[in-house]
Amino acid sequence: MQNRRYVLVQHTDKAPIEECVAWRTDLIPTPGPGEVLTRTLLLSVDPANRGWMSSTPPSYIKGVGIGDTVRCSSIDEVVESRHPDFRPGDVVEAMSGWQDYAVAAGHALRKIEPRGELALEFSLYGLSGLTAYVGLMDIGRPKPGETLFVSAAAGSVGTIVGQLAKAAGCRVVGSAGSDAKCRWLVDELGFDAAVNYKDGPLRKRLREACPAGIDIYFDNTGGEALQAAVLLANERARIVCCGVISRWTNDGPDQGIRGIPGLIAMKSMLMQGFIVFDNLHRRNEAFGVLGRLAADRRLKVKDDLVEGLENAPRALAGLFAGQNMGKRIIRVAERSAA
Ligand SMILES: NC(=O)c1ccc[n+]([C@@H]2O[C@H](COP(=O)([O-])OP(=O)(O)OC[C@H]3O[C@@H](n4cnc5c(N)ncnc54)[C@H](OP(=O)(O)O)[C@@H]3O)[C@@H](O)[C@H]2O)c1
Repeated sequence: MQNRRYVLVQHTDKAPIEECVAWRTDLIPTPGPGEVLTRTLLLSVDPANRGWMSSTPPSYIKGVGIGDTVRCSSIDEVVESRHPDFRPGDVVEAMSGWQDYAVAAGHALRKIEPRGELALEFSLYGLSGLTAYVGLMDIGRPKPGETLFVSAAAGSVGTIVGQLAKAAGCRVVGSAGSDAKCRWLVDELGFDAAVNYKDGPLRKRLREACPAGIDIYFDNTGGEALQAAVLLANERARIVCCGVISRWTNDGPDQGIRGIPGLIAMKSMLMQGFIVFDNLHRRNEAFGVLGRLAADRRLKVKDDLVEGLENAPRALAGLFAGQNMGKRIIRVAERSAA
């Protein structure tokens, strides 16, 4: 048996993702002392994966080198273990990336006892859930009666942020890139309103959707949504800087946001960023809250499954074209029968 994988052949700065990777087939690696051989079951598709492949990766992580396997988080099954904590058949969270098999040091793996569908370990009980929870609770600090606006609202983090804020008693408004996504947010996920940001200037429609202004803005995009939120923000509003996906699809110069820092001072606003990897120790707390809301049917998650490792480049590129609804995941293989 062989190992199929995608390696990086050029950085993602300007070229389409599909042109930055090449398909390789080679031997399955062999684990050394303290290491574990795993077989990939599911791959998480995250906007950050593209940044890790750029020539200027973010400071919190090492970039993917030319010739290296494309990196992303994965859920794997242990095939062979030379580490005392793991046995064949165990399910683990790993960073195997776009390949069928990987060898990792045992200390880099986290054993998982799946709580239902395996895909939930990426959404509700994964980095998306944790990102939504720590960003909203620590920086957004929602209070009943406040208005929350979240961009990329129909995506993995956005859907959870909106429903968490709703459970905290907020009026919840989202923006997304199609009418179908907006209808889904309101009809299925219980958002109070949703606006299609591709349907003309956002600010006017956002003002209509947020008649009492905005108290919390959970920023997944930067750009036009951040600009509108800063202008419509109430006194003491909190802006949660989670991500800037709009920068990736905009080749022009960064225009910046008007009114910053003046409006931040005048409205006594808070604007703060965070990185989910600094909050991994909060997993139990976050997943406890999210799990209870899901059990009470006050929080729904949706998987957006793409079949097959060979489709990984298309799956990642599709995030930037807004193709996903909910958490995008690549299914590489099924779990072996116990
Ligand atoms: N701070 C952290 O530690 C952390 C952790 C995880 C994720 N993040 C960030 O959180 C954000 C959401 O991540 P996610 O995993 O939940 O992804 P996601 O929302 O599931 O997928 C990305 C979505 O972004 C939207 N989008 C793409 N291009 C856009 C543009 N130019 N303007 C506005 N929206 C655009 C698309 O939906 P539309 O149809 O609405 O365009 C797409 O579905 C990203 O910025 C990501 O980098 C940060």
